[in-house]
Amino acid sequence: MTTISSNIHHAVKLLKAGGLVAFPTETVYGLGADASNDNAIHKVFQAKNRPFNHPLIVHLAEINQLPDWADTIPAPAFALADAFWPGPLTLILKKKSSVLESLTGGQDTIGLRIPCHPIAQALLQTFRKGIAAPSANQFTHVSPTTAEAVKEELDGKIDLILEGGPCAVGLESTILDLSKDEPIILRPGMITAHALEKVLRTPVFMANQKNHITRAPGHHPLHYAPLTQTTLLETAEIPSFLQTLATHEFPIALITYHDLDTPHHPLIHCIKMPKNAALYAHDLYKTLRLLDHQHFKHIFIEAVPHEAEWDAIRDRISKATGRSFKNFFANL
Ligand code: TXA
Ligand code: MG
Repeated sequence: MTTISSNIHHAVKLLKAGGLVAFPTETVYGLGADASNDNAIHKVFQAKNRPFNHPLIVHLAEINQLPDWADTIPAPAFALADAFWPGPLTLILKKKSSVLESLTGGQDTIGLRIPCHPIAQALLQTFRKGIAAPSANQFTHVSPTTAEAVKEELDGKIDLILEGGPCAVGLESTILDLSKDEPIILRPGMITAHALEKVLRTPVFMANQKNHITRAPGHHPLHYAPLTQTTLLETAEIPSFLQTLATHEFPIALITYHDLDTPHHPLIHCIKMPKNAALYAHDLYKTLRLLDHQHFKHIFIEAVPHEAEWDAIRDRISKATGRSFKNFFANL
């Protein structure tokens, strides 16, 4: 038996016994529990310190498991499943009445996703049932994209962490609500609105465009946030802003993706991110986590382009920062 398959069998045993197993997906690491075990689901919320009304995504191995969870499966769900599963897309569908209330936070819908990471697939294929898995971090923290990051977040609170290297995508899945009259993105991810529209041949809306009333993900004021105070800066503001910082505000970290003419200052640590959106997404959480360990007084992040392929990154940066440059002064 290879190490991978023996680890998977051990993980499945733990899941069947109601245990918690963190596992890699292509987006971020998930904290897995048997989605049909109320007690195990309870433990997920406790380990994460997450309010019970934030519903969990159920992960499946194959599309033929959808009817076990979803009451109605509209044609667009099959088209999207064909195009993007296994992969970083979560579909919100009307739930079956048998789905546990603890999973859905009392809503009449369920989030479903078939991930493509080989270890997630092996785990789901062997377990043969749905695995409820939020990101494997404390509530409001940055999601983990490595097994070490999961350990930082949840050590001692869970039964096993399956090691699967760094996550290829690096940001959480796109969440698309198909339970309403029109398809609505509740959380942007690296599968863009445009990519979804190409398959659906109908407009896809962002939750905020539609005044959507469903509980959209990450609506806590500081979600996906580093512990260090983090502020967003427009590109043009950066040079003059740096001039205004007083001695006691250093050291700071500055995350940019442009080649900026920033002053050479021993207490300004500049991190140059990739100009390509997929590569930037891959590195973002890893970078924030690393900086969080380095005792900066502040992290500043340069705002990213207003283009569709950057939507998910812009969303996470705005949630990580929670305030803009102007508010930074207001709060000094
Ligand atoms: O990439 C991902 O989606 C990762 C990996 C592990 O699959 N999972 C993840 O789960 O990000 P979580 O729980 O950290 O974020 C899922 C978000 C939550 O904010 C939750 O409120 C929302 O999805 N959600 C889940 N079910 C929902 C539903 N039925 N209606 C509306 N929002 C839902
Ligand atoms: Mg999360």
